[in-house]
Amino acid sequence: MQKKHTNPFRFNQVVEKEYFCRRQESTLVSDLIESGQNVALIGPRRTGKTSLALEVCRKAKRKVVHSDMMRVDSYAEVIKRLIESTMRDSKEPRIESLIQALAHLRPTWAIDPISGGTQLTVTPSPQSTPQNVVDTLRLIEKRCKSSGSILFIDEFQDLTALPKHESFIAQIRSEIQHWKDTAIIFAGSDRDKMKALFTDPDNPCYQSATILMIERLEEQTFKRYIHRRFEQTGKTIQPECIEQVLDLTNQHPNSAQKLLHFLWSKTPEKGLAETKTLQSALNLTIRAEQDEFERALGNLTLLQGRALKTAAKLGGESTNSIDFLEAARIRNHASATKALLRCVQLKILQKEGARYEFTNPFFRAWLKQLP
Ligand SMILES: Nc1ncnc2c1ncn2[C@@H]1O[C@H](COP(=O)(O)OP(=O)(O)O)[C@@H](O)[C@H]1O
Ligand SMILES: [Mg+2]
Repeated sequence: MQKKHTNPFRFNQVVEKEYFCRRQESTLVSDLIESGQNVALIGPRRTGKTSLALEVCRKAKRKVVHSDMMRVDSYAEVIKRLIESTMRDSKEPRIESLIQALAHLRPTWAIDPISGGTQLTVTPSPQSTPQNVVDTLRLIEKRCKSSGSILFIDEFQDLTALPKHESFIAQIRSEIQHWKDTAIIFAGSDRDKMKALFTDPDNPCYQSATILMIERLEEQTFKRYIHRRFEQTGKTIQPECIEQVLDLTNQHPNSAQKLLHFLWSKTPEKGLAETKTLQSALNLTIRAEQDEFERALGNLTLLQGRALKTAAKLGGESTNSIDFLEAARIRNHASATKALLRCVQLKILQKEGARYEFTNPFFRAWLKQLP
């Protein structure tokens, strides 16, 4: 019997292997880390920074110490995350030497109640200082060097929420600038903070990494990928339908994959995905988030709601036009701008130059369907 295919499109999670569309930036990241250069991946949430970093390392057969600093709130927690990520793929005798070096961090074994497996956790002293973090980094670098691993510090900008972070970041910089063999990948979703860290000449991290902006997937690469994934799983997709998916989602990787996931599941086995299949996939996607959309709209004033709905229907380019004001039934530009900026503040919209874009394309699609 022929094996049943699983859905080839994944969203809201790190993607690897065949689920990863080999994007143009992959080669560049790979070349940089192979030559020991540090890289900083900067881009909004869910554009594929973590997937890119991990997939490039996997392809290059490099081990990776992946430490996520998201919402970290103390130096002890930074150390804990660094150490636990270092130990994640270390095997026994090697781990023992690490435990010895870290005896003061009080490592303990815990039994995972679900898998039944053992897991090592560390409890650094609550009084841990920036210097302790730097010492930990030095230790990690030694291990990375001996195993050829890459250090990957994800959501790096969250370290700037720690007390005295300026001098801490300066200390990190002076430690890592001596590293000759271990490349570091930094990634972060807060564009402004990340840019300030790496491109501001007053900042200690200035010029310590090559910066790559990670946003949309390049159109032709993504189209070929979508086409191929349908074929590989015994289905086909009309080229117009691919266009529509990219159009609807503004080519945003996670949103496009989400819609494609439902599109694929709505397409019969060995069947063809076409416009009407896409419509029902879109409805399914919207339905899953509708409560959220209703709540967000309910939190706006009537005028703000009309401005948002009009931006959905007419697009966010010409919000200064007479047509926009008439459609939104708003008297003057100042009120329209104020309403739209409120939506920016609430992260419903984002401003790209003079244009307003929906952060969630399905919110826009839902508003467009409203009377
Ligand atoms: N190269 C890619 N190929 C296919 N899908 C991708 C790719 N990059 C991102 N995605 C989509 O975006 C989602 C989020 O990716 P992730 O790596 O977690 O982003 P980030 O780290 O930027 O938040 C994935 O689940 C997937 O749907
Ligand atoms: Mg990420």
